[in-house]
Amino acid sequence: MNIDALIIQVDKGLRTLAGTPHATRPMPAGEGEPAPLAPEARREAAALMRVNHCGEVCAQALYQGQALASGNSALKRALEQAAREEEDHLAWAEQRIDELGGRTSLLNPLWYAGSLAIGFLAGKLGDEWNLGFLKETEQQVERHLQGHLERLSPGDTRTRAVVAAMQHDEAGHARTAQALGARELPRPVKDAMAAAAKVMTTVSYRV
Ligand SMILES: [Fe+2]
Ligand SMILES: [Fe+2]
Repeated sequence: MNIDALIIQVDKGLRTLAGTPHATRPMPAGEGEPAPLAPEARREAAALMRVNHCGEVCAQALYQGQALASGNSALKRALEQAAREEEDHLAWAEQRIDELGGRTSLLNPLWYAGSLAIGFLAGKLGDEWNLGFLKETEQQVERHLQGHLERLSPGDTRTRAVVAAMQHDEAGHARTAQALGARELPRPVKDAMAAAAKVMTTVSYRV
C-alpha cells in the first residue's frame, strides 16, 4: 500500500465517522406523509435506525479494508460502486435518525476500526474468499433488515421506505459478489460472522 492510498482511506474513514456522508440518490420517502408516530414506535424506530446506521459505518469500513487489500482492479471497482451505495444508506439512516429525534451510536469509531481490520484480512485471503465474505455479509444484512421491517410500526412508512431501499441494494451487492466469483464460506465462518454482528446490533441498539 502506498502512502497516497493510506491517506485517502484515512480521509474516507474520518468523513464516515464525522457524520458528513453525501447521498447521490434522494432519500426514499415512502407513500404520502406518515401520521405522527406514538412515542414508543418512534423510540423503537430511532433505535433500529441507529443499529442500521452503525451497520452502514461497518459496511464502509469493510469495503475500504477489502479494497485496500485486493490487487484486482475489477474487484476494486465493484467494491467502490457498492461503497457509494452504502454511503447513500449511511446518509439516509442519519437523516431518518435526525427526523425521529434519535442519535447515532457513540461506539461508531470502535466498530469502524474493527470492521476495517476484518475487511482487510478478508481481502488478504484472495479474491474468491473476499467476494465470499462480501456476499455472506450482504445476505446477513438483508435478513437482518427483513427483521426490522417486521418490527417497525406499519404506519411508519418513511422509515420502512428507507429500510426497504437498503434491503434492495444489499441483495444487489450479494448478486454482484456472486457474479464476480464469490466462494461459499464454510458454515462455522458464517456462524462466527453472525455472532459478531449480533454483538454489534445488540450494543448499538442501546449505546
Ligand atoms: Fe447498506
Ligand atoms: Fe451492501
